[in-house]
Amino acid sequence: MLSPDHVNSYLDSRLAERQVNKIQHGFPSPRFWDEPSVPLDEIGEDRMRLRAAGDQSHVFLYVGVPYCLPTDPGKCGYCLFPVEEFTGNAALENYYGYVEREAEMYREQMEGAVLAGAYFGGGTSNLYRPPVYHRLMDMVRRLFPEIPDQADLTLEGIPQLFSREKMQAIRDAGMNRISMGVQQINERLNSFSGRKQTTKHVIQSLEWARELGLAANVDLIFGWPQQTVDTMLEDLETLVSWDVHDITHYELNVGGPTDFALNRYHELPSTLANLEMYRAGRDFLLDHGYEQLSTYNFRRPGDPAAKDFREGYTTRFEHVDTLGLGYAAITFFGTPALAPGRSWSFINHRSLPQYKAAVDGGRFPVERGFRHTLEDWLLMLLFRSLISTEINRVHYRVAFGLDVYEKFATVWDALAERGYAEITAERIKLVGDGPFYAPMISTLIAEERYRELREEAAQRKKESRRLATVTPGVRSDG
Ligand SMILES: C[S@@+](CC[C@H](N)C(=O)[O-])C[C@H]1O[C@@H](n2cnc3c(N)ncnc32)[C@H](O)[C@@H]1O
Ligand code: SF4
Repeated sequence: MLSPDHVNSYLDSRLAERQVNKIQHGFPSPRFWDEPSVPLDEIGEDRMRLRAAGDQSHVFLYVGVPYCLPTDPGKCGYCLFPVEEFTGNAALENYYGYVEREAEMYREQMEGAVLAGAYFGGGTSNLYRPPVYHRLMDMVRRLFPEIPDQADLTLEGIPQLFSREKMQAIRDAGMNRISMGVQQINERLNSFSGRKQTTKHVIQSLEWARELGLAANVDLIFGWPQQTVDTMLEDLETLVSWDVHDITHYELNVGGPTDFALNRYHELPSTLANLEMYRAGRDFLLDHGYEQLSTYNFRRPGDPAAKDFREGYTTRFEHVDTLGLGYAAITFFGTPALAPGRSWSFINHRSLPQYKAAVDGGRFPVERGFRHTLEDWLLMLLFRSLISTEINRVHYRVAFGLDVYEKFATVWDALAERGYAEITAERIKLVGDGPFYAPMISTLIAEERYRELREEAAQRKKESRRLATVTPGVRSDG
């Protein structure tokens, strides 16, 4: 258990620091996913065995695409995702053929599974021409012949690439929601990212979605270069005036060799200025009838087209099965009910030639993965639950046989003293500035385990170097 002094000094020293959002991919960060041979057969058997034993949990499907429109600077100035430049429909559709073949590899182990929802993300999934949306949904139906009515089937895209014809094909194919990466409605601020998007594109896409009965989500980012509370509120006011029910409001995650990190760092609002934006944005949306569903997602009830969609968070501690198909797609599979070491996170190849070569060779196109101990699985679910702003102590006890309050009592007590959390017998709820600080809270809770993982990685590196020197001719990766 972390000492109260350590927890308090950790919090004191980090409240004004830029948060590193390590929880986007669950726990641990993909930097630690260094197992090159992920046992897909074993995972498939576990999937089928759990289902045969009556496990009712559903599968969430993610389908990725590598391509994006070229921008200036190349790649949107803030984007941390692996992408490739779009060179035309021939390359895109050739790629998509590979995704269909990859899906076939999972057909047997998905037999009898129920689809919880599907997300066509990226990259830029609305680069596809209209007929491809039908092919995408055909692929989904081959894997999951019965799609429940409540399943959310979202296609993500950028405003300037939607057309009425595409939107109609998206709807006719059976998808029921679009998610638009808008980031800034303010055109001057948006132009810093290199994207050629106008307000007209956004309005037009929302109108088509409404006309066709598709639910629509808009992603915005706060903490953008030169952004102020006022410019942020103007964007939110505009979205509310357009009757957008579903708004994702992310804090800018700065890192890597992005243009914003390299060339606009000095224009970024400070973390405390971001906190002001978080508070003002949250209060504005709550005042206008939105509910806060997660640290970054706000939804106004009453959209007739809306289904049950939860992005990246959970309020239960049970079986997770997210099947990722395509370039750089991530799969999470596990449950506390499995033997230790049989729960996995893994990522598909982030090199397009390697992705294709694997499929051509009849191999699952997996780059590397992480075998979770029970403790690691528990942390992953805990952090996903933190994103929902609420940890249910009862569900946690049922899954892991222990009380999550007692396990991290010094952290929760310190958060409660600062007004960031409320603790009751049933739950721990992030309140006040607590949701804004969720990434930092996760980093604190994971600190010790990250230290161990770094030590284990260093040890493995040392061992493979030693083997390479004592066994001449044997390469360290062989
Ligand atoms: C993977 S992106 C792809 C969506 C689409 N290609 C687009 O550009 O809108 C999905 C969402 O992640 C968010 N995002 C991407 N990079 C981010 C960053 N550095 N910080 C915060 N949010 C980010 C954006 O809001 C974006 O809409
Ligand atoms: S933000 Fe979206 S469009 Fe821009 S590079 Fe990233 S994935 Fe592509």
